[in-house]
Amino acid sequence: MYPPIDEAALEETLAVLERGGLAAIPTETVYGLAADADNRDAVLRTFAVKNRPTTHPLIVHVAGPEALPHWASVVPVEARILAERFWPGPLTMVLPKSARCGDFVTGGQDTVAIRCPSHPWTHELLRRFAGSAFKGLTAPSANTFGRISPTCAEHVREDLGVKPSGKLDAILDGGVCEVGVESTIINLSGARPEILRHGAVTRAMLEEALGREVPDGGSGAPRVSGSLKSHYAPQTKLEIVPADALAERLAALAPAPAAVMARTRPEGFENLVLFLEAPQRCADYARMLYRALHELDHAHAARILVEAPPADPEWAAVNDRLGRAAAEKTAPQQCLAKGVVR
Ligand code: TXA
Ligand code: MG
Repeated sequence: MYPPIDEAALEETLAVLERGGLAAIPTETVYGLAADADNRDAVLRTFAVKNRPTTHPLIVHVAGPEALPHWASVVPVEARILAERFWPGPLTMVLPKSARCGDFVTGGQDTVAIRCPSHPWTHELLRRFAGSAFKGLTAPSANTFGRISPTCAEHVREDLGVKPSGKLDAILDGGVCEVGVESTIINLSGARPEILRHGAVTRAMLEEALGREVPDGGSGAPRVSGSLKSHYAPQTKLEIVPADALAERLAALAPAPAAVMARTRPEGFENLVLFLEAPQRCADYARMLYRALHELDHAHAARILVEAPPADPEWAAVNDRLGRAAAEKTAPQQCLAKGVVR
């Protein structure tokens, strides 16, 4: 449950966004770094604040399906069906962009990603912001590029912060995000629908709604920055370990300190500096995943060990994000993460 809307804070955030400022806003997935999607300068500042290359396209957040024809030049029937079924909610649709949608939003691509979030605070914010022009907000996750996405206002305060010491004009604290991993992205701009990023709206749900198969996007699919292999990475090296190998791995690491997330606590290890109990249910696991990664990363451990979650399709988003958190940063990705990409 989210806290009741703080009217004064909501109005202040609205004013910040209307005058071209940057505000972190709560969504049901993760906190977003919002800017007026029609305001070139404001949108470009979000890239600078995140240290994100400007070629990486942003999602336009809208108040409802009625905004679709204002941001997309073509709204196929699949988009209408999915908006009807899953909006407001954690589903982003990629469509051919309209003339109104600036290249600064789409990283120069001719498609635009659009989503209508369900978090009540941001839904209301978008409703007031949209006005008669169907205005929208660009909102990448409110974290420095390559870092773990924020699922509460505290994460945003720690990472980006508010002026004068930080980088943002406001942080709207709407509580803890209930979904916890980024929205599912479906590409509807090509010959067939394809999944570009897994999230709480699963493949099974999309296939059921559309009555057809929805495969993963291939290498020809539009660019998704979360598809960089080491995205969402903690600073501490993370390993995914099968349940029956956990004790052995801990013993092999000793005396180096290790932080562990698993369903049951391995007993008798002096080098176990932090243990987090992994939830059994997928939705609970997703909700706490990024918070857990933040905590595990702050435990001063030499290594983070995570018990492998089930391999079931329902767990695709969780396994995807964990896999990226565990991936080695390659040299070019380290450059990207530091914002030194040319
Ligand atoms: O749940 C979410 O989607 C969160 C909340 C804040 O709404 N936002 C989010 O934004 O995850 P961001 O910028 O961290 O990730 C958006 C992803 C990026 O990987 C980007 O490459 C992809 O969406 N994207 C945006 N426009 C696209 C396009 N035209 N074609 C393909 N991918 C696109
Ligand atoms: Mg992100």
